[in-house]
Amino acid sequence: MGVVFKYNFIRILKELYLQKTIMLKAVIEKALNKQIELEASSSQFYLSMASWTEIQGLSGSSSFLYQHSDEEREHMLKLVKFINERGGKALIPALIQPPKTFKSLTHVFESLLEHELNVTESINNIVGLCLQEKDFTTHNFMQWYVAEQLEEEALARTIIDRLNMIGNDKAGLYLFDRDLSNEMQHEPQLE
Ligand SMILES: [Fe+2]
Ligand SMILES: [Fe+2]
Repeated sequence: MGVVFKYNFIRILKELYLQKTIMLKAVIEKALNKQIELEASSSQFYLSMASWTEIQGLSGSSSFLYQHSDEEREHMLKLVKFINERGGKALIPALIQPPKTFKSLTHVFESLLEHELNVTESINNIVGLCLQEKDFTTHNFMQWYVAEQLEEEALARTIIDRLNMIGNDKAGLYLFDRDLSNEMQHEPQLE
């Protein structure tokens, strides 16, 4: 009886220790939940852009943005699952209304880049917090987001450069939109 008690006591201690090391700290959980909101609002923002460009007849840009919106939702889901798997509680937020109209296609992609820069800043802050709190598991998890932001920012900048080259040339805009559609079909998709 005494041996069984001792065995159970050690097992419970081990479990408690494991929980303490694996479970998310409240401060990290809060930051990750904030990131969920940011990824979800990115998805909503790009969905609004996709819809607006579709109405303008820019089908290539619209497909690109619909896809991008889906990817942002995936980014959000990845965080939801990570928080829950680590013993935290993922919070699904209400979202603010994104802009309904845009001045031009250049304005769409400039807004997208600006938004991505905010997302990058938020991700960098979480990475810094992970180091401060010595949460190396979350730090490792966040590296995927760091790489993703680099890719997305570069892509947005390339698109803006192309649009600036085109200026107000309607034929150029038509070709840009068609090329974007073709590139989406031939290039590996963004994650
Ligand atoms: Fe994202
Ligand atoms: Fe993004």
